[in-house]
Amino acid sequence: MNSQLLESVSFIKSKITNTPKIALILGSGLGDFGNQLVNKTTIDAKEIPYYPISTVSGHAGKLHFGLLEKNKRQSTELLCFQGRVHFYECNNIHHVVYPINVAIALGVKTLIVTNAAGGINRNFSSGVLMFIRDYINLTGENPLIGNSDPTLIPSPLRGGLGRGGSYFDEQLLENAKSVALKNNISTKEGVYCWTKGPTYESAAEIRMMTTMGADAVGMSTVPEVIVAINNGVKVLGISCITNMATGISATKLSHEEVTETANRVKNDFTKLISEIIFEMG
Ligand code: HPA
Repeated sequence: MNSQLLESVSFIKSKITNTPKIALILGSGLGDFGNQLVNKTTIDAKEIPYYPISTVSGHAGKLHFGLLEKNKRQSTELLCFQGRVHFYECNNIHHVVYPINVAIALGVKTLIVTNAAGGINRNFSSGVLMFIRDYINLTGENPLIGNSDPTLIPSPLRGGLGRGGSYFDEQLLENAKSVALKNNISTKEGVYCWTKGPTYESAAEIRMMTTMGADAVGMSTVPEVIVAINNGVKVLGISCITNMATGISATKLSHEEVTETANRVKNDFTKLISEIIFEMG
């Protein structure tokens, strides 16, 4: 572990009593989830040495450690990242994946990653919850390039890279889909396309992404997923379609629409994630 990461992790370990095996990254407007944890320790990102800070509204930088309680007999130890740093904020891919590197160093083995995304698939509408089956990286960035920490990032020379095929864990996805069905929560499934932002896409770009097979578009998630997968962490991804993408929607996109929709579906989303976590045991 590099010395900065070591310092961040030592700081966090000095504040917590249990180390969770499951981490949850909460996207735009979905940040309230962590509030329901019990026996909770909340760490402000600003306090953690070397930890990157987000400037986007709705992305409070907090780490919540605690128990998600189903009932008095069943609960799950969880790490919730409230808010994330986007590539467009810092122009440094290693800052973007710093939190997931922290989670891995703390011993996390399963990652649930959520985001707000624009809907490209015309069968979607705003408020849809989409399980991410696969992704398209349109940014040209890869967080495994140039990382100074050889213990965290597998080198292609050591045969660590090239976990081909489906990046998202198929079993987690199948389980999550049956949890949604069992709880009467309507969901879709699709391909998430990562762009750098910070501007929303042009109508022509959305037409291109449609041709490429994208169902949703957003400015996050993929870098964390790449790092997680390549460190043996199982990943489940869920997008909240907060708006239909440029050229598909008749209205002009805004960050307010994104947070408004996220707030509207919060209850279903919270229920879905909780039940998925309980199912994990
Ligand atoms: N495009 C990119 N990112 C987004 C969108 C969008 O339409 N909605 C929420 N995040």
